[in-house]
Amino acid sequence: MSDDTAELEARLAAQDSFEPPSSFVEQANASDPAIYDEFEAEWPECWRAAADLLDWESPYDTVLDDSNPPFYEWFTGGSLNASANCLDRHLDERGSSVAIEWIGELGETRTYTYEALHREVNEFAAGLRSLGVEEDDVVTMYMPMVPELPIAMLACARIGAPHSVVFAGFSAEALTTRMESAGSEYLITCDGYYRRGDPLEHKGKSDDGVAGVDHDVTSVVVDRLEDAYDHPMADDEHDYDELVADHAGETVAPVSRDAEDMLFLMYTSGTTGQPKGVKHTTGGYLAWTSWTSQNVLDITPEDTYWCSADIGWITGHSYIVYGPLALGTTSVMYEGTPDYPEKDRLWEIVEEYSVTQLYTAPTAIRAFMKWGEEYPAGHDLSSLRLLGTVGEPINPRAWKWYYTHIGNEACPIIDTWWQTETGGMMVTTLPGVGTMKPGSAGPPLPGVDVEIVDVSGEPVEAGQAGYLTVQKPWPGMLRTLYQNDERFIEEYWAEYSDVDSDDPDDWVYFPEDGAKLDEDGYITVLGRVDDVINVSGHRLGTMEIESAIVGVEGVAEAAVVGGNHDVKGQAVYAYAITEEGAEEGKELESAIISGVEDAIGPIARPEAVVFTPELPKTRSGKIMRRLLEDIANDDELGNTSTLRNPEVVEAIDQKVNAD
Ligand code: WTA
Repeated sequence: MSDDTAELEARLAAQDSFEPPSSFVEQANASDPAIYDEFEAEWPECWRAAADLLDWESPYDTVLDDSNPPFYEWFTGGSLNASANCLDRHLDERGSSVAIEWIGELGETRTYTYEALHREVNEFAAGLRSLGVEEDDVVTMYMPMVPELPIAMLACARIGAPHSVVFAGFSAEALTTRMESAGSEYLITCDGYYRRGDPLEHKGKSDDGVAGVDHDVTSVVVDRLEDAYDHPMADDEHDYDELVADHAGETVAPVSRDAEDMLFLMYTSGTTGQPKGVKHTTGGYLAWTSWTSQNVLDITPEDTYWCSADIGWITGHSYIVYGPLALGTTSVMYEGTPDYPEKDRLWEIVEEYSVTQLYTAPTAIRAFMKWGEEYPAGHDLSSLRLLGTVGEPINPRAWKWYYTHIGNEACPIIDTWWQTETGGMMVTTLPGVGTMKPGSAGPPLPGVDVEIVDVSGEPVEAGQAGYLTVQKPWPGMLRTLYQNDERFIEEYWAEYSDVDSDDPDDWVYFPEDGAKLDEDGYITVLGRVDDVINVSGHRLGTMEIESAIVGVEGVAEAAVVGGNHDVKGQAVYAYAITEEGAEEGKELESAIISGVEDAIGPIARPEAVVFTPELPKTRSGKIMRRLLEDIANDDELGNTSTLRNPEVVEAIDQKVNAD
């Protein structure tokens, strides 16, 4: 570190609040602090502002229908099409502007103007129809970061077929479960993709996933690897390029969808082993992602905006595809990893494309910090105007590094708290309005009513921690869990509502996060309070991992916890009890690791597997995960007095933290 840098870092370390740069404020889409009071005074009518960003085929009559809580409905009576909003309406004004700038792992690029994207979406929509896809059929997509993924999403939206994108890194088994649960008879998949310059085969995994599905599945296969990977095609499999070519030049009129019609399903992890099918609708979701893209990401059509997430997660849905394209901007899509071929790959792209906004995850920022400031320093990053983070809490050191070494102290940072279920951002400063405080996401967005409450549902005092709750509905909210209204109520509403109330009017939304209410009303998100762990910003259910581990021969019982990790934020730590006669050791450890990879995917791979004769349990037989977390983190052990078997904690701790 040079003297200058040391001095700078010392100065920043002492600073705990930052004002948005005036150069940013002057041009910001939202710069008037009055918006908070206005939205509060006019709620829920204030959300007309979001709906107004869209083109409606028929206008809505009611902003919010709250007659049947917690099944809130937004913009009822209105109809629209998401694909038409992301494509058709831009054609006149900016048909030749770039919609998607795709950068492949091997350095190749594909540029889709709005016209070109519109054309291919239409052709593929016609192709899907020819395969029999009808309105309301759920189409599953199991694809990496190739342009055909957003094309397929928009083609489905065009014909009113909800999509369900399964992250390409998930296992075959995960694909099967999701297709079965959604009753999805169509799959769009890929032969493979590139990772660190090498072809990575994907189709075998996809085939295994389909083989597990009980009903018939018709597939479309994108040929990303071309000659690098030959594979046979079965009768119910269709080549993407051929299908599009067969429908060259065809157009498909966008199907008029009711505001409350499902746009897509996204499966996410929760407390139990079964992933939850989060249902998002056409009007509210699109309005929410558009409004937040405009006011938080500060997107204008002239920007070259880059969100480095994967489209397989909600961040990519909302902020690579729907929000940015609805606003008619250029959205960058990168197939590869940030350190291939070199650790400056991201900065090279920012420079080459003059990227104006960068939205990424704290885990990536921590990796950049580790690699060193020389990588960004070698590039001209002056095109950047705004930086954002999402997915997990960002520690102030990483925030300041991002602010200095990427933003050159000239870009506001938005630390955006939200989740798959919220559809889009909920808690963050408005970059043109709010003072930034590293480590604290900020106040709730205007019109969003977040309260931090204690166990009895009472608001905590400033300075105290509690549960994050959302007290009023918002347009981007999930509407239910797919075909499971009961679980929707149980998971998010009833259990945490005002004590003793079975009146749904009193219920509030509980996202399963703990948070601290700062003195000035800012919210510092502390992390999940359920059995979900957040590895590199990826949400994983401990129960899902545990059930994969106990599925391994030789394992009798397992417990999984999140332990602190420098770069990933949290990592998976597994504790396993062997069956009588099974041998603890390397072999079983590898079997456990591959068991997890097969059931979920490599992202859930345990960092460590600890064999133990017993797990710490309460007298009622519940595993005390908190103590296992203390052990994983080598923290002082918490209270063991309520345990049935307190001695076991000490024994495991000795084993893990002996040195
Ligand atoms: C966590 C990702 C702290 C949180 C968009 C939430 C965050 C879960 C932040 C949702 C943030 C997301 N600060 N924690 N800025 N953003 N989280 O559904 O625990 O994949 O509940 O959605 O990520 O993860 P999901």
